[in-house]
This record gives sequence, structure tokens and C-alpha cells, in this order.
Amino acid sequence: MRLRRIIWKLILIIAAFLIALVIVLNNTENTTNSDEFLTILRNTKEDNVVVTPGEPPPKMHLLDERKPKPAKAQERQLLNLTNFEYMVDNYSCENYKKELMAIIIVTSYVGHDELRSAHRNAISQAKLSEMGMQRVFLLASIPRREHFITQSQIFNEQQRFGDLLQGNFLEAYRNLSYKHIMGLEWAARRCSKAKFIIKIDDDIVYDVFHLKRYLESLELENHELTTSNALLAGYILDEKPVIRNEQNKWYVSPEEYNFNVYPSYLSGWLYVTNPKTALRLVDQAYNTPIFWIDDTWVTGILREPLHIPLQRLNSWFSANPDFLQCCVRDLKKANAMECEFYVGPNGGEAKLLIEFLHNVEKCYYDECLKRPKEQSIKNTCVGAVKRILPDHGNAEIKMVSLGR
Ligand SMILES: *[C@@H]1O[C@H](CO)[C@@H](O)[C@H](O)[C@H]1NC(C)=O
Ligand SMILES: *[C@@H]1O[C@H](CO)[C@@H](O)[C@H](O)[C@H]1NC(C)=O
Ligand SMILES: *[C@@H]1O[C@H](CO)[C@@H](O)[C@H](O)[C@H]1NC(C)=O
Repeated sequence: MRLRRIIWKLILIIAAFLIALVIVLNNTENTTNSDEFLTILRNTKEDNVVVTPGEPPPKMHLLDERKPKPAKAQERQLLNLTNFEYMVDNYSCENYKKELMAIIIVTSYVGHDELRSAHRNAISQAKLSEMGMQRVFLLASIPRREHFITQSQIFNEQQRFGDLLQGNFLEAYRNLSYKHIMGLEWAARRCSKAKFIIKIDDDIVYDVFHLKRYLESLELENHELTTSNALLAGYILDEKPVIRNEQNKWYVSPEEYNFNVYPSYLSGWLYVTNPKTALRLVDQAYNTPIFWIDDTWVTGILREPLHIPLQRLNSWFSANPDFLQCCVRDLKKANAMECEFYVGPNGGEAKLLIEFLHNVEKCYYDECLKRPKEQSIKNTCVGAVKRILPDHGNAEIKMVSLGR
């Protein structure tokens, strides 16, 4: 009898031990999971931490810490920036369930929160979504001299809108090439389901409805081009001489660029490409010395050896913000007349994009009159003296706004 009891006790103890073991093991697994969860929560809390430039940015990646990453090594590098990292990056094209016509990447100076908000007011992500489009703003980290915005504000902005992508290199006029490649690489690798990539600057007014129509018709009429790895369309700048006058802000030394004329390139104000083409440009960028005039570099210098032809959309562009103002004026009238331009600078007027998009939309419901030749904006827009054309315009405007 006694022996039996002892055996029973032993069995009970072993059973209890086994149960305890199972519970402990389960818990360990749970901890692993909840760690991930905690990391997410912690990141949210870190939104309130002010990061001063120079300090390592808080890590926003969940997977980076744990997974071995031989293949991901490349993601840790952006051109020759070996410690590249996204400070803000949680937008995922995978969350977009519909067919994605275009991802719009907007180069935006980190301090331009007002411009970004104009973009969102002009057309919301939800409305873009209905049109088969999505939008992401490309930011870099806050430079020391910037006193109008803090990193916690950027984290808050991300929490509210979730449409930012921020690299850890310093925001600078001469760092725009990094930002440009960051955007193309992100779009090509992480948003490859988009049929098109539209690259724009934050201070540009553009007719997104017209763009959508253009892309739809391009797909129908030139399907081969749209699915090829050689799609680049925008404002073509031909045979621009390299400026060798040291007093000029566009001065480029022979060490920086050794030829006297740039290859044809597209204005960075707005151009259209696709993930396959972007990937080729990005690969080329990793094998080419970096040149600081970003649109010239990416769509000219990098493009040329790849023999990617440029599609000319020059007639869409006006470099005169007054013309777009006049368009808004005409669109507001009872017999609204359509605008003859679709892209132009905002002239320092953040709200122009809102006015323009809100008024131009009706033309896509056939509520606008065709504009007769003699009524062209060029003839009727008073105040507009000369027609300036885009010419490094992107960086020029950036430089002005960077120095505010
Ligand atoms: C990005 O993260 C913020 C919180 O940090 C969240 O509110 C937002 O919904 C996220 N966006 C996406 C697309 O995951
Ligand atoms: C560009 O970014 C790098 C990396 O953050 C930084 O070291 C460099 O100073 C920046 N360039 C300029 C001109 O500020
Ligand atoms: C990256 O390359 C540029 C241009 O060649 C150079 O000016 C810069 O110092 C390099 N940066 C790093 C971090 O190596």
C-alpha cells in the first residue's frame, strides 16, 4: 500500500512538473510575441521624445533587431551612407488592398509641415485611394539651424496621417540626391505593386485628376511602354550648359561634373516613372559618383548610359505661378474654363494647391468649357510678364525655402 502511494505521489509530482514546464514554455513564446507588441507600443511612446540631430534616431524597425539579415544589408545603406536608417517608416503599400495605379512620392523639406497639410487638404489620402493612388512624403532629419519643427512633431504628424518616410541623413540642399534615391528605392522595392511612380516636389501645384487620366490612357494606348523598364515622362530639359561661374549658385566644379553640357533630363518638379525603371536608376546610382543636383543626376546622368528615352510632357508645365492663379480665377466663374496647364510652382502660396485642385476637379465631370486659343492663359492672365521655364527650379525653390 505504502509503495503504491509513493508511486502515485511521484506520478503527481511528475505530472505537475510537466504541466509547469508546458506553462513556462508557452509563456516564453508569449513573451516573444508580446515583446514585438511592446516594441510597437514603445515606438509610439517614443513619438514624444525630441531627437536632436546628431543623436542616433530611435529605432522604428521591429524586425531589424532579431532577424539575421544578410539580404537586408543593402537596406542599411543608402548610396555611400553606411548608417542609413528610416526614422519614420510605417506606411505600407501592402495595406492598400485595391489595384494601385500610382504611388506619389513627394520630396518635402522636413520643416514644410504647412505644405504637407496643404497637400492633404487639397486631396486626402482617402480620396486618392478611391482614385487608385497613394501618397508618401519624403523627409530627411532636422538640421541644426531649423528651429520651427521638432522630431516629436514629426512623430505626431506620422501618428495622425501615417504618410511620412523619413531618412536619418540631414536635410540639406546638397543632400537632395540621397532623398531622391531613397524615394525611388522605397517605391521600387516596397511599393512595387504600383503601376506608376509619380515624383513631385512639395511646393508644386499639380492636377492629379489630369494625371490619372493621362496614366489611364497611356496604359491603354502604350501598354508596352507603361510596363517596360524604360518609362520616364515629364518636362524635358535639353542641353543645359554646366555653369562654371563661381559666383553663380549653380556653379559646378569640373571635379563634380567634367562635361560642359548635361545630358537631357527631367525637371524634378514632377515626373512619371514606374518601379522597374526606378530600380534600374537606383542600381545605376549605387555605381555612379553622387552629384548634388538631384534631378539632373537621376533623370540625366544616371539615365543616359541606360538609354532610357524621355517622354515629353513640356506643354503641361508653367513656371509662372500667376498663370495657375488665373486658372483658379477662371475656374471659379459661372462658365468655368479649363486650365491649359497642369503643373507649376506654388509661388510661395501653400494654399494655391488646395484652390487649384478643389476648382479643377469639376472639369473631370465635364463641367468646364474648352479654352479657346485667343483666351489662352498667356494672353489673358494680367500681371504675368514673362514665362519662366523650369530650370533646376526644384532645387532653386528648395534653397529659398531651406534658408527660411
Ligand atoms: C503609422 O503609425 C501611426 C502611429 O505611430 C499610426 O497611427 C498609423 O496608422 C500608422 N500608419 C500605417 C499606414 O500603418
Ligand atoms: C548630408 O547628410 C549627411 C548625413 O546625415 C551629413 O553628414 C551631411 O552634413 C549632410 N550634408 C549637408 C550639406 O548638410
Ligand atoms: C559620399 O559621396 C559624396 C560625393 O562623392 C562625398 O562628398 C561624401 O563625402 C561621401 N559621404 C560619405 C559618408 O562617404
